[in-house]
Amino acid sequence: MGRPFPSWAAALSQPLIFVAPMDGVTDWAFREICYRLGAEAAVSEFAPAAGLSVAAHKLLRTIGARHGDKPFLVQLYGKYAADFARAARLIYNALPCAGIDVNMGCPADQVVSHSHGSALMREPELGGEIVSALCAATPLPVSVKMRAGWDSVNAPEVAQVLEAAGASMLTIHGRTRMQRFTGLASLEAIAATCRAVSVPVVGNGDIRDLESARHMLQETGVAGIMVGRGAEGNPWIFSELRRQLKGEPVPGLERWTLSNVVREHVRLAVEDRGDERHTFLPIRKHLIWYARGIPGKDALRVKAQQVSSAADVEAWLADVEAAMQAAGWDAARPRLDPMAA
Ligand SMILES: Cc1cc2nc3c(=O)[nH]c(=O)nc-3n(C[C@H](O)[C@H](O)[C@H](O)COP(=O)(O)O)c2cc1C
Repeated sequence: MGRPFPSWAAALSQPLIFVAPMDGVTDWAFREICYRLGAEAAVSEFAPAAGLSVAAHKLLRTIGARHGDKPFLVQLYGKYAADFARAARLIYNALPCAGIDVNMGCPADQVVSHSHGSALMREPELGGEIVSALCAATPLPVSVKMRAGWDSVNAPEVAQVLEAAGASMLTIHGRTRMQRFTGLASLEAIAATCRAVSVPVVGNGDIRDLESARHMLQETGVAGIMVGRGAEGNPWIFSELRRQLKGEPVPGLERWTLSNVVREHVRLAVEDRGDERHTFLPIRKHLIWYARGIPGKDALRVKAQQVSSAADVEAWLADVEAAMQAAGWDAARPRLDPMAA
């Protein structure tokens, strides 16, 4: 299935399953919990290429490349090739990482208004210049994460420019920028991109379970897949998909009861930022996602929004366990429907 990834991926089992970058969601603690639950590679939340030169220490700390020997890509956004090259040199000298990823997918108004993110889908030559500059700046492999296009599909043509410039892997989120997050990711756009280039392509968009992962793999020819929102409140999706795609049964995750996953996630967040109120602001939304599908989730959601310490999380978990017990749920086997409201 697919073509070879950059050399760091050769030892990993294929298809490679990535944690998608999600600003405000996939911070160090969440990526780490995903790695522990079966993800093989992850991409950082996007960081400004220009900002790295002026606030290097803070940004390098935020990127948080402490994932041991797990492959980790650092994603940058911007529009000036020189900014990317400077940032890549800083990263190369300061962080252990497996490659630099260029953001050509962010649809946010404040990002595209500066010609960053998915705005580069309208300027493929500029994307190519950025990739060339990155390839020249450090020995790190360079990849690009892009959309299917701006207002219509042009990912295959853009991909050819990026491949010629030296990109060694491309991830396609199969929606155009104008679609933002509406509609469905186009597997056809991803398949056309796979046919257009010879570097490995990673498919992204709407992968939430075995069926959607299989569709992506079988209908496009991608060499790997990337899961974003499907991992929210559901980080065990990585080990489940890996086993299910091989036709293996999913063994019990006894150690990984829902409570244990949450405890470990919170422990990692506290390890990273301390047991401070600000540590728990980003945790609150994760708790709400973890509670999806649990009977009485509305009360759990209200309480999750007030969590400000590890002790508050314990009290919240006691309520979760009581709700699960009352509903006759098997606490040892967290199977939550990521699509449940
Ligand atoms: C809250 C949020 C933040 C995101 N931040 C980034 C980002 O920093 N860089 C990036 O390339 N994509 C970002 N994305 C896009 C995702 O990586 C992914 O392409 C998109 O969510 C589609 O995949 P999914 O259906 O598996 O979620 C973000 C998406 C969401 C929902």
